[in-house]
Amino acid sequence: MGEPDALVVFTPSGRRGRFEHGLTVLDAARRLGVDLDSVCGGRGICGRCQVEVDEGEHAKHGITSSASHLSEVNEVERTYAAERGLAATRRLGCVAHIAGDLVIDVPAESQLYRQVVRKEADAHPIEVDPVVRLYYVEVEEPRLESPTSDATRLREALAREWALERLELDVHVLDDLQQTLRAGDWRVTVAVHDGRSITAVWPGLHEHAYGIAFDVGSTTVAGHLCDLWSGDVLASAGEMNPQIRFGEDLMSRVSYVMLNPGSRKELTRIVRGCLAKLTAELAKAAGVERDDVLEVTIVGNPIMHHLLLGLDPTELGGAPFALAVDESLRLRATDLGLPVHLGARVYVLPCIAGHVGADTAGMILSEGPHLGDEVNLLVDVGTNAEIVLGNRERLLAASSPTGPAFEGAQITFGQRAAPGAIERVRIDPETLEPRVRVIGCDAWSGEPGFADVRVTGICGSGIIEALAELHLAGVLTTDGTIDGALATRSARIVPDGRTFSYLLHDGEPRISVTQDDVRQIQLAKGALYAGCRLLMDHYGLERVDRIRLAGAFGSQIDPKHALVLGLIPDCDPERVTAAGNAAGTGARIALLNGAARREIEEVVRTVEKVETAVEPRFQEHFVQAMAIPHDTDPYERLRAVVPLPRRRKSSPGAKEGRTRRRAASAATRGRRSE
Ligand code: FES
Repeated sequence: MGEPDALVVFTPSGRRGRFEHGLTVLDAARRLGVDLDSVCGGRGICGRCQVEVDEGEHAKHGITSSASHLSEVNEVERTYAAERGLAATRRLGCVAHIAGDLVIDVPAESQLYRQVVRKEADAHPIEVDPVVRLYYVEVEEPRLESPTSDATRLREALAREWALERLELDVHVLDDLQQTLRAGDWRVTVAVHDGRSITAVWPGLHEHAYGIAFDVGSTTVAGHLCDLWSGDVLASAGEMNPQIRFGEDLMSRVSYVMLNPGSRKELTRIVRGCLAKLTAELAKAAGVERDDVLEVTIVGNPIMHHLLLGLDPTELGGAPFALAVDESLRLRATDLGLPVHLGARVYVLPCIAGHVGADTAGMILSEGPHLGDEVNLLVDVGTNAEIVLGNRERLLAASSPTGPAFEGAQITFGQRAAPGAIERVRIDPETLEPRVRVIGCDAWSGEPGFADVRVTGICGSGIIEALAELHLAGVLTTDGTIDGALATRSARIVPDGRTFSYLLHDGEPRISVTQDDVRQIQLAKGALYAGCRLLMDHYGLERVDRIRLAGAFGSQIDPKHALVLGLIPDCDPERVTAAGNAAGTGARIALLNGAARREIEEVVRTVEKVETAVEPRFQEHFVQAMAIPHDTDPYERLRAVVPLPRRRKSSPGAKEGRTRRRAASAATRGRRSE
């Protein structure tokens, strides 16, 4: 000390300051608020504080930076390097002292607040700043002359070394606190949740902390196990929701609960069992101890949310669709029977409305429509479509009763998206001959490699492409009729009772698209469009800037085909993109970043809910949206890039009108339940 000041510049933050010689790099970083990690509190054992010297002349700062401007490598660093490995260019920031001007680079893995770049296009990176953190401390040994409890001295150590004051202690921690302190020779690692509670204590240095983000869907339950330090996803797994045996769709599960007193507990028990099983699988797949899982987040639609938490979902079965609770919930993992650390906490994202759940909150968190000026339309397509529209000014949300057709149900040869399902379709407008591709094989029909493939059916994205291509080829008219007049031109158009079918695959089994399939998709897409359009009405918009399609089905459908069929309102096809599993990503963001929880809690409070079931204009939009792509909207933005066939109706008479009206009222009456 007392030496002349040295100028130290940290990159990439660019923060700089003058420091006395002899100060550690970690202390200098802390004084400047530079993001440099540390678990061991500067004892040279965790290795989180690694830095590199950027050597050479730095004219911009007017200094020459040199590795020799740090104190020489000492015994602590040599021991660390021998035991855990340390690159020759790296130094431990808590050990190396400043001895001259320096430009210090803080590598990404040494930053406390790392950014996780997401795979999906247009997605914001996630800043890793979890609610649970690990702290290594040295606790004073008990002395006869000042008798304080081990718990008190542990708290004092955390206050002294990490400025963590007034921490609560989980009761289970006390079970073996005394043994842990002695086993660690009074050096322990403590997990502190939300800066408030001591939830776990390990002897010595403990560096592993993991979390699991769950997305509880009515069909599938998915989980992602993440490293809470790096933010990396270490394992992902999914299971069928075992509640399916009580009903395929949400409403049949609510009916089951209503009709079978006492059954609610069973539905709760089995979905919790599913989460427990996934937890064990994820930990095994990632090669981590379940006891090192300290944090869990959950998203799900309102009915899944209620059943998982043990809440009665029957009020969600009918208007006014009252939620038992809409705010976010914080509980203990043991409350849900999850086989993780006893001190692990669960955060359940907030619900928005009776049909718009924590999964939609997750989608908002993942997509961030509230952060920009552009008006985004987010659509998570499932048996119920959750729709969010807006920007930083306003956000609106609704759910629309699309039914299960998009998942391949109620389609003659429909099936879930699984190997063997047709997922891509192209139809030659001249010959009306199709080419198809199935899940699990990259070859198109007619190409080498396709002959060996067993085609089993057609999934949701396949049926969308088939109908859109049939429309582009002129086989499917504007009102959704397979044009039988073309049967003379192509043997693919086959009489089928009083209507016609299109033979998509003439192998074994023969797979056709029937007139009834078209009607099912028209009902589903009419409901989806009507929900979107209703939100646009409420916002006062004719066009949206951007559309993001989320969920397993939403991410699979081709934006162009979705527009051609009129599933979604007109938009530049370039501005319609897949968002992946946005709900699950939202759960992951809430897992990795505590501030994101506060953010979504605030945003959800401002979301305007639109209840499609009671909106008079829903019916009107629905009927108009039965046409392909739409009865009155010319889809000019789509038409600018995709030549659409001229509008053609097969039988514009009263019969067709009646059919559509009947279909519309059936859909709004009955499909609300799904
Ligand atoms: Fe732990 Fe430097 S802070 S080794």
